[in-house]
Amino acid sequence: MKHILNTIREDLKNAREHDPAARGEVENAIVYSGLQAIWAHRVAHWLWLRDVKGPARILAQATRFFTGIEIHPGATIGRRFFIDHGMGIVIGETAEIGEGVMLYHGVTLGGQVLTQTKRHPTIEDNVTIGAGAKVLGPITIGEGSAIGANAVVTKDVPAKHIAVGIPAKARPRKDGECIKLVDPDYYI
Ligand SMILES: CC(C)(COP(=O)(O)OP(=O)(O)OC[C@H]1O[C@@H](n2cnc3c(N)ncnc32)[C@H](O)[C@@H]1OP(=O)(O)O)[C@@H](O)C(=O)NCCC(=O)NCCS
Repeated sequence: MKHILNTIREDLKNAREHDPAARGEVENAIVYSGLQAIWAHRVAHWLWLRDVKGPARILAQATRFFTGIEIHPGATIGRRFFIDHGMGIVIGETAEIGEGVMLYHGVTLGGQVLTQTKRHPTIEDNVTIGAGAKVLGPITIGEGSAIGANAVVTKDVPAKHIAVGIPAKARPRKDGECIKLVDPDYYI
């Protein structure tokens, strides 16, 4: 129980840090669909791992109905995960997401094949993925990297790179860009 409360507190703090528009904790818990989606996912993933798969899928679909965020219960997601604006997010079954990852609306972490294999991306720690970006296939986005808005990424992105465009091209991040990537004041 203590662990659950600590996780909820950490998520609320994380939302405040990522959105300058965030206000009180109770209000944030009610209005941030990204928070509701990750909380529901944690329950759905817990059920999924215990082979209670039907209820896990139903919970995930109900969450999608209310938030516009579809996270397959099989997806593995680390701490301090935040989705800003919600809506139009799809995260596939075999996606693996590290800690401190942030997604904007319209992001897809999708597959390119229909086989029951690892077919969705691995997103390492502290990656930011811009609005509308599509990250497809069992590729890895390296730690501390960023994907630009509306990019389509089908190849690995090394750590501390920025990838933009269709198909996305990656370049190393310059010093100082870290602040830009984690401070939503630059975006919103
Ligand atoms: C990718 C990103 C992090 C790059 O930031 P940056 O390194 O500061 O880039 P700059 O703004 O200096 O632009 C560098 C070049 O990349 C281009 N560029 C920037 N973002 C791009 C994108 N998403 N797609 C294509 N090209 C992009 C710029 O036009 C510029 O081109 P130029 O050199 O020919 O003039 C940022 O542009 C981005 O897309 N962030 C996501 C923001 C988001 O999703 N916000 C949603 C808020 S609701």
